[in-house]
Amino acid sequence: MWPGYLDRAAQEAMVGDLRAVIAAAPLVRPVTRRGQALSVRMTSAGEVGWVSDRRGYRYEDRHPSGVAWPPIPASVRAVWDAVAPGAAAPDSCLVNWYAPDARMGMHQDRDEADLGQPVVSISLGDDARFRIGNVERGGPTQSVVLRSGDVVVMGGAARLRHHGIDLIVPGTGDLLGAPGRINVTLRVAR
Ligand code: SIN
Ligand code: MN
Repeated sequence: MWPGYLDRAAQEAMVGDLRAVIAAAPLVRPVTRRGQALSVRMTSAGEVGWVSDRRGYRYEDRHPSGVAWPPIPASVRAVWDAVAPGAAAPDSCLVNWYAPDARMGMHQDRDEADLGQPVVSISLGDDARFRIGNVERGGPTQSVVLRSGDVVVMGGAARLRHHGIDLIVPGTGDLLGAPGRINVTLRVAR
């Protein structure tokens, strides 16, 4: 965990880069195989992007509209290089947009080919309550507040721990010019 890793100027620059990603590959609200819409809206940058629809969830090399995913912004990639030295190059950057009422249920990140590679998460905008559980389902959990500029590395023994977002605390950050939160996760998917 790297609290306050990005200063305000770096956060503002990254938000600008992410707005360009979203302009090229618009946010979509994924649905589960059973047709239930997630509350988080998502897009990706990189060679592959994570998608979920009635066919299930997976990495795809195109946005659902058919356009290629835009490249991972250099500002985002620089965080990976700093906090995950020695890891392989990330080929996927999931961009999650949380409106104030959005949340993300407890899950594992395990769709990547090499689970020995870390996942690096960057938080921007309003605070969020992040819940971390265990590798196995259930059992005790801990919660931590993720603030704008915080970076979390999920690697090693923590790579497969269940995690989710319980809630967003609207009005705690003014970075985005509107209530809500952006979370970016870098992955080595293939
Ligand atoms: C995720 O697990 O993909 C996102 C976690 C977060 O929003 O902090
Ligand atoms: Mn995750």
